[in-house]
Amino acid sequence: MNILQMRKEDFFEIRQNLMHFWGDRHEFFAPLHHPMFIYEFGNTAYVIKDNNEIVAYLLGFLAQTSNTAYVHMIAVKPSHQKKEYGRSLYDHFLGYAKSKGCNKIRAITLPKNIASINFHRKIGMKLLGEKNADGINVVKDYSGPGQDMIVFEKEI
Ligand SMILES: CC(C)(COP(=O)(O)OP(=O)(O)OC[C@H]1O[C@@H](n2cnc3c(N)ncnc32)[C@H](O)[C@@H]1OP(=O)(O)O)[C@@H](O)C(=O)NCCC(=O)NCCS
Repeated sequence: MNILQMRKEDFFEIRQNLMHFWGDRHEFFAPLHHPMFIYEFGNTAYVIKDNNEIVAYLLGFLAQTSNTAYVHMIAVKPSHQKKEYGRSLYDHFLGYAKSKGCNKIRAITLPKNIASINFHRKIGMKLLGEKNADGINVVKDYSGPGQDMIVFEKEI
């Protein structure tokens, strides 16, 4: 498996094919793929290709308010899941983030995204906040009044 820096063409190919990564959630995730992630944060955007096909990607950035690396988006095509692609993308970004002085990595997800919660737990991320009615730690009102989010964090 080879992790490559994302190119502008890769970014727009991903945007055209969000359905293949996100299934019926693709419309919800489309606006989150803002072009700044390639133009301004392109040095922390990565892809994995299989026979020239993009099968996984990560969009990240380094925060300005603390020494934190932030994973904005990570996705692996269903055909390539559970093959360590997600973990490898995280590790790759972590290596870069450490070299730039970061001491934490952070990501968020919706409380209903159980697959993402399981994956992030497996790669050693802790859930901040307090337990919700389902017994899952959430940060209350993170995205606005009544909009709790799962906030993952790990020291690196
Ligand atoms: C979440 C996602 C990125 C995981 O990628 P992946 O390449 O399949 O994960 P990996 O193979 O690197 O798995 C790493 C560990 O997490 C576990 N894991 C991955 N997906 C899991 C799931 N759905 N349920 C339980 N455990 C899971 C793996 O078994 C592995 O554990 P191990 O170390 O004990 O073997 C991928 O499922 C995905 O793209 N999902 C759809 C998009 C999404 O929800 N992204 C996250 C939004 S915040």
